[in-house]
Order: sequence, then structure tokens, then C-alpha cells
Amino acid sequence: MEKLLVTGGGGFIGSNFIVLAQSGSNTKIINLDKLTYASHPQTLQALSQLPNYQFVRGDIGDRILIKQLLNDYQPDAIINFAAESHVDRSIANPNDFIQTNVVGTANLLEETRFYWQGLNEPQKSAFRFIHISTDEVYGSLGADDPAFLETTPYAPNSPYAASKASADHLVRAYFHTYGLPTITTNCSNNYGPYQFPEKLIPLIISQALNQQPLPIYGDGLNIRDWLYVADHCRAIYTVLEQGKIGETYNIGGNSEKTNIEVVKVICNLLNELVPKSGFDYQSLVTFVKDRPGHDRRYAINCEKIKQELGWQPQETFNSGLRKTVQWYLQHQAWVNAVNTPAHQNWLAQHYGIRP
Ligand code: NAD
Ligand code: TYD
Repeated sequence: MEKLLVTGGGGFIGSNFIVLAQSGSNTKIINLDKLTYASHPQTLQALSQLPNYQFVRGDIGDRILIKQLLNDYQPDAIINFAAESHVDRSIANPNDFIQTNVVGTANLLEETRFYWQGLNEPQKSAFRFIHISTDEVYGSLGADDPAFLETTPYAPNSPYAASKASADHLVRAYFHTYGLPTITTNCSNNYGPYQFPEKLIPLIISQALNQQPLPIYGDGLNIRDWLYVADHCRAIYTVLEQGKIGETYNIGGNSEKTNIEVVKVICNLLNELVPKSGFDYQSLVTFVKDRPGHDRRYAINCEKIKQELGWQPQETFNSGLRKTVQWYLQHQAWVNAVNTPAHQNWLAQHYGIRP
């Protein structure tokens, strides 16, 4: 692949993917991002130093822009990360999720179809549309249920999950109806560098460092299957190079943890790395009102990508979390820059937290 169009590359996973895709290769990357609150100016600044990289500000739902971009840049593949991605915000304001995740993806697919139909061989057969989705489309598991398979029926429970499920169905339909060479990946909860501190792990790190309450929803026993972002990005690259068109691949970290376990491991790492005499970060843990419709457990069975494409995660939860905490400690300027009035407003409205 010589030229990739990456959407949403100003966000957490997309920016990590761009760095990985450029390391040791001449791949040219065009990053199309709307620059919502979730993209960070310093992340974009870091990407802009890369050699074969270009940034375009815009919306995946803007068909005129997408048509022009595809015609001008003639990408060999599109990797669609762009999305509204936070469940709590989807509960507060579902419409943005429907606009970007459903309508935006539909518009992107439609323009991609016209572009792809106009390609000549061998570019046409080699073209790929990789759609990044989530395990949340499968709904919630009971304690003893087997982990999600690619064949598990969709049962989304939040507006976020429902919007991602809708997009996945459209991607599937474009393969079956038009033959567009699509592949969808459904991954579990990611963590690692450059994650916006509204998601559990970076929120807890940032709150703890500011000696603020660590909000845990409900009883803290909800389970997520944590995946280190670099492992996820390697999996996406593997799917891009070797994945079979029309297929979906589940990607997980084999690391099921309750939320309270996650928070305790973070606190113990901070007790070790940033000790404060006579103080345990765990004393900041605060149980708060549960999220409405809060899914109890997610778990991914990723045997398919392991067996068929030879990918497997390299980080354990403990090694990945240590790297993540160290990254946030070394990038305090990045964390502090997120602390805009809009972010403070979200914390105040959502948790009643005032810095
Ligand atoms: P993120 O919120 O950090 O970043 C999303 C990026 O998309 C931002 O830079 C934002 O500006 C951009 N964007 C939003 N709307 C856009 C639009 N209309 N047009 C162009 N750009 C737009 O998200 P993330 O955590 O990096 O997630 C990336 C993808 O992975 C998403 O599709 C998400 O659903 C999926 N996913 C994420 C996780 C996770 O744990 N973070 C887990 C499973 C799946
Ligand atoms: P989150 O990072 O928002 O990801 P998702 O909802 O997509 O899984 O949340 C991960 C888990 O942590 C989820 O069970 C909700 C819980 N959680 C809290 O307990 N407190 C918080 O402040 C947040 C943001 C999440």
C-alpha cells in the first residue's frame, strides 16, 4: 500500500496507527479529521513531523470534499477511524453520533464506491476499505457467557453502540451489494498514549495526579477486555495487508478486568512512580451513580485473527498499563492542554467535579 487515507487520525487510535504505519515504510498518509474536541492539537503537531504525511481538516460526511480528496490523492486504501466514540456523551447527546457514525460513514462509503468503481486493475482489486468498529455492537455478556465471536448476533445497548452497529451493517451491505472490498474490525477497549482523558484509564490517571475523586460507576464490577493500542494498530495493519475482503475480525487483549481492578492497578503504579508520603491514591476512589444501560461485561474471542492472520497481542495488561502511566507522567503538557474550559465543563456537568 503506497497511499492511505486515514479518517479520524487526530484521535487516539488513528494517531497511534499513523505513527505505526509510517515507521520504517514509505507509505504516504493523508489524515482527514474534523478536529472535534477529541483531537488534540499537540497530537497533530507530533504527527506533522512525519515525512510522508498530510493533514486535511474535514468531515467524513462531506461528500463534495470526499470526492475531491479521493480523486486528488487516489488512495490505495481507506482506514475509517473517524467517529464519536464516548458512550457517556452518546447518552447525553445521541444526535452527533448518528450524524458522524451513521450518516458520515454512509456518505464516505458512497463516495468510495464511485471512486473504486472508476479504478483500473490492478488498483481496483487491491483497494481496501477498512472499517474500525467495536465489541460494544454485540451487547452485554453474563458472567459465564462465552466471549464474543465474529458470528455473535448484534445487540447494541447504547446510542454509541447502536450507531456503530448501523455503520457496520452499511459496510457489510456495500460489500455484498456492490462488491466494495471492505473489512470490518471489532475491537475491545483500547488504552495507551494519546487517549483523551474522558475514557476510564486516562481519566483516572489525570484525576489521581490532581488529587481529585476517581469516579467509579455503580459497584465497579463491570468487566472490559483491555487491549493495548499498539497491539490494536498492528492488528489493523495485519488486516489491511492480509485480511480477506467481506470478513470481520475481532481484536482483543485477553485481559478481562473489573473496573475496580483497573483503578487499583493504576493507583498502585502511581504509589510506586509518584509516591506521596502517607498517601495512597486508592483513597481517592469514589463510587458514583451508575451509567444508564451500563453493559456488564465485554469479552473478545480473537482466535480467528490469531489462527488466520498470525496476529497476537504482545503486551500483558500489567506491561501495557505501566507503559501508559509512564507516558502520561512524561506528557503532562499534553494532559494539561486538554484541560480546556469545555473539558472542565464536561467534568462538572457529568460528575459534578470542579478542579
Ligand atoms: P477518538 O474519539 O479519540 O477520535 C476520533 C477522531 O475522529 C477525532 O480526532 C475526531 O476529531 C474525529 N472525527 C469525529 N467526527 C468526525 C467526522 N465527522 N469527520 C472526520 N473526523 C471526525 O476515538 P478513538 O478512541 O481513537 O476511536 C477510533 C475508532 O475506534 C472509532 O471508530 C471507535 O468507535 C473505535 N473504537 C474505539 C475503542 C476505544 O477503546 N477507544 C474501542 C473500540 C472501537
Ligand atoms: P469507558 O472508558 O467510557 O469505555 P466504554 O464505556 O466504551 O467501555 O468506560 C470503561 C468502563 O469504565 C465502563 O464500564 C464504564 C466505566 N467508567 C467508570 O466507572 N467511571 C468513569 O468515569 C468512566 C469514564 C467509565
